[in-house]
Amino acid sequence: MAERLLEVQELFASYEDTEAVQGVSLSVQAGEIVGIVGESGSGKSTLLKSILGLLGPRAREAGAVLYRGEDLRKASPARLRQIRGQEIGMIFQHPNLSMDPLCTIQNLFYESLRAHRRISRQEARRQGREILETLDFPDPERILAAYPFELSGGECQRAAIAAAMLNRPALLLADEPTSALDVTVQKQVLETIKKTRERFGTAVLMVSHNLGAVGNLADTVGVMRKGRLVEWGPAAQVLRFPEHPYTQELLRAVPRLDRAAARPEGQSDE
Ligand SMILES: Nc1ncnc2c1ncn2[C@@H]1O[C@H](COP(=O)(O)OP(=O)(O)OP(=O)(O)O)[C@@H](O)[C@H]1O
Ligand SMILES: [Mg+2]
Repeated sequence: MAERLLEVQELFASYEDTEAVQGVSLSVQAGEIVGIVGESGSGKSTLLKSILGLLGPRAREAGAVLYRGEDLRKASPARLRQIRGQEIGMIFQHPNLSMDPLCTIQNLFYESLRAHRRISRQEARRQGREILETLDFPDPERILAAYPFELSGGECQRAAIAAAMLNRPALLLADEPTSALDVTVQKQVLETIKKTRERFGTAVLMVSHNLGAVGNLADTVGVMRKGRLVEWGPAAQVLRFPEHPYTQELLRAVPRLDRAAARPEGQSDE
């Protein structure tokens, strides 16, 4: 049986007057891709931030987050810094906003590596080139030398994935990795996430409002609504036989092609 990497138990997270996450339990196995979908405001970003302990002192939280059995709520700040990046990587919705505009990708890679170990610029560059090659970037040298604003949105997001993978985390958390991009570019980013798992065995927990994007990639799908996980199961099962009316509603909104793939054999759309 695959190792259970992450286990979230009865997680609650609230801001002053909003109960954003209300009793979510889920787990991610080593090498598994889990996709969570839900509309804007359903608590997806809060869930990911809470897992990494990034909500700040004003949020109230309850429940347990175990990484390889270690309770992250009880981890020291030093241990948490080590876990973030080295064990659990994070990619954000707008990579060009979270990247320093005055910092080339090569520099970003250097800083990412240096946060966790002593490394020369030359060695960081070598490892950066290697990771871009592994993830099938056609022109690693151009990417390395570029500033974020010189890259397209898709390239930026894929470079952010590469940066997160430099330290070989066993788990990647991805917050809406495709939502700011148009459809063709979304596919490229999803392809890069798929390759990341193929080539490094990385598990991925991604959240998105797009069931089409998540359904194509994930092994396991969860559906979040108003802070609760209302559906959870193998992707094929959730897409074919959604139990919750809200999931059925989301499925009806997915473009036809995806629906055709998700429909049980022999059942016509007409
Ligand atoms: N820093 C904050 N302070 C107060 N309320 C917040 C804060 N961040 C989020 N919220 C509220 O918590 C709820 C969940 O927000 P969250 O950002 O987790 O949702 P989401 O599913 O990620 O939405 P989106 O798809 O728009 O990114 C929302 O009602 C939101 O307004
Ligand atoms: Mg969000």
